[in-house]
Amino acid sequence: MSSSSQGPSLQILVLHGPNLNLLGQREPNVYGSTSLAEINKQIEEQARTLQVKVSCFQSNHEGALVDAIQAAWGQYQGLLINPAAYTHTSVAIRDAIAAVKLPTVEVHLSNIHQREAFRHHSYIAPIAVGQISGFGYYSYILGLQALVQHLGDRANTPS
Ligand code: DQA
Repeated sequence: MSSSSQGPSLQILVLHGPNLNLLGQREPNVYGSTSLAEINKQIEEQARTLQVKVSCFQSNHEGALVDAIQAAWGQYQGLLINPAAYTHTSVAIRDAIAAVKLPTVEVHLSNIHQREAFRHHSYIAPIAVGQISGFGYYSYILGLQALVQHLGDRANTPS
């Protein structure tokens, strides 16, 4: 059956936080050599395989990310986010996700639990469905698969 005959597919918002626009050039020993544009292409390819729609957005600004999360309310069914440094600092991003109640998967390229102590704490993890950390750009692919699986399970669970 084609996706069109199954009705509108799931829409997932993919958010990238600060400094991720520099991926490929930025500390490649930590974050890999894949650029953000290439990562977005891989995410879009995976989305086609999973028959979902994705929109990808990067910002270096906390307020812009909060605005994007608020605007996702009613428009998207799930959120895949690498909050980058805001993972460890942003009550505002956490509150925005809690407010819109979008099922959220948090991803990180590096294994944040293996790094400096200040990276071990995430403000987002307690309100996320789960966290995937340490698989390079593949964390996004795993995160998208996990989110789509979670949304499918939720849709099939009788209330
Ligand atoms: C990161 C990990 C964060 O600690 C860091 O501030 C980033 C990237 C990651 O993807 O590994 O900018 O989120």
